Amino acid sequence: MKYRPLGRTGLHVSELGFGCGGVGGLFVRGERCEMLRTVERAIELGVNYFDTASIYGDGKSESSLGAVLRKLGVDALVGTKVRLSASDMGRIPDAVMESVEGSLKRLRLDCVDLIQLHNPIGLYRDPERGYVGLDDLKPVMLAFQSLQEQGKVKFCGINGLGETEALLQAVELAGAQSIQICYNLINPSAGYKVPRSFPFQDFCQLMQKASRNGLGVIAIRVLAGGALSGTDNRHPNADESVSPIASGRHYAEDVARSRMFQFLVEQGYVDSLVEAAIRFVVSNSAVSTALVGFSSLEQLDQAAECVAKGPLPSKALNQIEEVWPLYSKADF
Ligand SMILES: NC(=O)c1ccc[n+]([C@@H]2O[C@H](COP(=O)([O-])OP(=O)(O)OC[C@H]3O[C@@H](n4cnc5c(N)ncnc54)[C@H](OP(=O)(O)O)[C@@H]3O)[C@@H](O)[C@H]2O)c1
Repeated sequence: MKYRPLGRTGLHVSELGFGCGGVGGLFVRGERCEMLRTVERAIELGVNYFDTASIYGDGKSESSLGAVLRKLGVDALVGTKVRLSASDMGRIPDAVMESVEGSLKRLRLDCVDLIQLHNPIGLYRDPERGYVGLDDLKPVMLAFQSLQEQGKVKFCGINGLGETEALLQAVELAGAQSIQICYNLINPSAGYKVPRSFPFQDFCQLMQKASRNGLGVIAIRVLAGGALSGTDNRHPNADESVSPIASGRHYAEDVARSRMFQFLVEQGYVDSLVEAAIRFVVSNSAVSTALVGFSSLEQLDQAAECVAKGPLPSKALNQIEEVWPLYSKADF
C-alpha cells in the first residue's frame, strides 16, 4: 500500500480508504464477525483511513467501527461527519458539539482524526434540500476549531457535494483541511475539463482547486455506488437501492453507461471494470485517498489488488477522455 499526504494536515493516508457507509453496507447490515475479519484484513493490507458518519445506519456504522477497532486494538485514522438538520440551523455551534459528542461515544474514542461537515453546500442555505449556505460555514468551522482546542478532533473538512459555484468558493473560504469529492469514470468533472454537452453536474475541476488550496482530497463514489462493477446485482449487505450522485437518473442508467468503458478490459488495460474505475481515481495525483464502500472482505481484497497495480497508463487515460463527449449521443 502506498500513502499520500492528506493536504497540509501532516497525515499520510492509504491510497485505498475504507468507506463504512450504508451503500456497501458491511458496517450497517453485516455480521460483527465479518466486520472484524474485514477490518483485520484491511489493516494487514495497509489501509489506514476509515470513513464513517453519524447518520450511517443511524449511528450503527460508528458503533460497529468503534467496537471493531477496539476489539482489534487498532489505532487507525478515523473520520466521521456532522449532518445539520433544518432545526439545527439556528443553533449551529451547539448542534455541532452535540453531534461530535455523540459520535465520540459511539466510536468509543476520546478524539477523532477528522470531523467533516456532511451537508451539501449551496450559495445560500436551503434547509428543505439539507443544504447549508456559504455563510453557515463560518460558525461550523468555529465550532470545529473549538473542538480541536478541546482535543476532541484533530482536523476538519467539508463535503464537496452541492452547488459547484458554492463549492469552488468554499475551498477558498472555509478554512477546512479536507474535502470529500465525488469523482469517478462516469462523472470525472471534479478532475477533468468536460465538454459543454456533459449531461451531469460539472464540478469544474474542484479537486485541483481544493488541492491547490492545501485541502486533502477524499474521493467518494469511486465505483458510482457499485454501478461501475457493470452489473446491477447487489451483495446481500449492500443497499438494495442506490441513488446516483451527480450521474444518471437511476442506478440502472449508470450500470448501462459503465459499459462504455468496457473497451479497457477488451484491450487488455485492466482485468475488470472495477479495476478500471479504481485505478482511474488513483491515477489522479490530487486524490489523497480513494474511498470504496465494501460489502465483503472479497471486495476489499479485490480493491487492494487494483490499487497495487497503480495508475492507468496514459494511453488508457487518453482513450477514456474520448468517451465523455460521446455521452450526448448515447441513449440509456
Ligand atoms: N460525503 C458524502 O456525502 C458521501 C457520499 C457517499 C459516500 N461517501 C463515503 O464514501 C464511501 C464509499 O461510497 P459508496 O459506498 O457510496 O460508493 P462506492 O464506493 O462507489 O460503491 C460501493 C459499492 O461498490 C460495490 N463494490 C465495492 N467493491 C467492489 C468490488 N471489489 N467488486 C465489485 N463491486 C464492488 C459494492 O456493491 P455490491 O456489493 O452490491 O456489488 C458497494 O456497495 C462511503 O462508505 C462513505 O464513507 C460520502
